[in-house]
Amino acid sequence: MNWKTEIEVAEAAARIGGALAASRFQTGIVGGSKNVSAEEGSFNIVTQTDLEAERAIVEEIHRTFPDHAVLGEEIFGGGEKTAETLASEHLWIIDPIDGTSNFFHGVPHFGVSVAYYHNGEPVCGVVGNPPRDEWFTAVRGQGAFQNGRRLSIAPNTRVDEVLIGFGYFYDRGAMMEATFDVVVELLRRKCHGVRRMGAATLDLAYVATGAFGAFFEYELSPWDFAAGRLLVEEAGGKITTCYGDPLPLSKTSVLATNGLIHEEMVALLTEKFPRP
Ligand code: IPD
Ligand code: CA
Ligand code: CA
Repeated sequence: MNWKTEIEVAEAAARIGGALAASRFQTGIVGGSKNVSAEEGSFNIVTQTDLEAERAIVEEIHRTFPDHAVLGEEIFGGGEKTAETLASEHLWIIDPIDGTSNFFHGVPHFGVSVAYYHNGEPVCGVVGNPPRDEWFTAVRGQGAFQNGRRLSIAPNTRVDEVLIGFGYFYDRGAMMEATFDVVVELLRRKCHGVRRMGAATLDLAYVATGAFGAFFEYELSPWDFAAGRLLVEEAGGKITTCYGDPLPLSKTSVLATNGLIHEEMVALLTEKFPRP
């Protein structure tokens, strides 16, 4: 199978969601408190646009594949049904706006992510950066592309030759502190720099383009890495948990690298925040 229809639908749906987010961002509507519903005391902001974009993306997918299961961050989240949903034969996984904090605060760096999985295996992935009109696509066995240009990971063999992206969950606890311990150690090892960009889907795309030699985050959700993992793998990179284990959708820690610095990163991540 060449999955032509699936990748076309994935890209069309991502572009619809992305266009909505980009236009709201440009008009500044997201900045108004009338458009925001953030739970009290939570750092996890959700805007009206997140919800509308997810609805629009799912609608587009269901126009072609009305029977396929969807798992989205906002409305179509599976809750306790997630495990059952993840086992679906045909599954679409959606993050309508990845980097909502950036989106909300006016930083033009946020993503949209649509992935199609067949029997638990990643088949098609699209990640977009709507403000920059950048589109990253991958189909299993067919390579990864950015606006039609084939991608390949960074060739560097050492941490002191690359930039490294990272992220941390909304909590402000031990995991976040361990994350910064890793960052300090990477700087001691003279890595070219560390970046907390704020959109994991795009961080993974940057590993695929070779901009980042690695990206790590101790806790993510399936919609954060479902599409990006395929970009990394199809560009020649490696993606596992932070502990070097395989990464099914049910796992939450993510390490993506060019493969060449993977072992060094696993050792460091395991030392600073041992496997729970
Ligand atoms: C978040 C972003 C961020 C990462 C968080 C994610 P959201 O996604 O990807 O970079 O550090 O863990 O939850 O909430 O903006 O879709
Ligand atoms: Ca996300
Ligand atoms: Ca999101």
